[in-house]
Amino acid sequence: MKSIVILISGRGSNLRSLVQACAAQAWPARIAAVVSNRPDAAGLEFARECGIATRIVNHREFATREAFDAALAETIASYAPDILALAGFMRILGADFVRRFAGRIVNIHPSLLPAFTGLHTHQRALQAGCKVAGATVHFVTHEVDHGPIIAQAVVPVLPDDTEETLAQRVLAREHLIYPMALAWLVRDALYIENGSVRVATGEAQWLL
Ligand code: GAR
Repeated sequence: MKSIVILISGRGSNLRSLVQACAAQAWPARIAAVVSNRPDAAGLEFARECGIATRIVNHREFATREAFDAALAETIASYAPDILALAGFMRILGADFVRRFAGRIVNIHPSLLPAFTGLHTHQRALQAGCKVAGATVHFVTHEVDHGPIIAQAVVPVLPDDTEETLAQRVLAREHLIYPMALAWLVRDALYIENGSVRVATGEAQWLL
């Protein structure tokens, strides 16, 4: 039985999709805790309703990024997680933190990486005139939004899209690929071959 800690900063819709998939698909895993850097993150309420332990490590209470990272790492380590899933967690994690949990941290990013790392991905995709957009689940490395890609989902960009309509279309796909990717991880189905993440079962790692 694997232990998962989920990190959030806000709404928590990806958190919800992971918690629901864990229960519905009977993963050999339990969500040990949900940790937020923001005390007002709506996802915390959902976690509490589900009876999941919640912890807040407020980044504003720390003078430096290193001090915040260290406190966050201690909080997480107390749950001895096998997997650390970032679900709308909006703080950059330092190299020491990433090293401590290396190979166990995954993230979902609202773009087709390596395009549009960082913030405002949908606005930038629209500005660039992209015809497709999407989301990526990847392992977290010290380089922000650059780790090995586990799964990607593609959606069309429509002529009258706004940042909001595009974000909504992408988010609906995020809710499918993140549980899909985490299910592989909890079942030890992922391996790396020639620098590329593969699934032992041969399932498609993309969603169109
Ligand atoms: C999601 O779109 C996620 O991909 C994005 O934040 C949103 C969180 O929504 N993450 C990032 O931008 C990380 N760089 P949620 O709180 O409803 O899951």
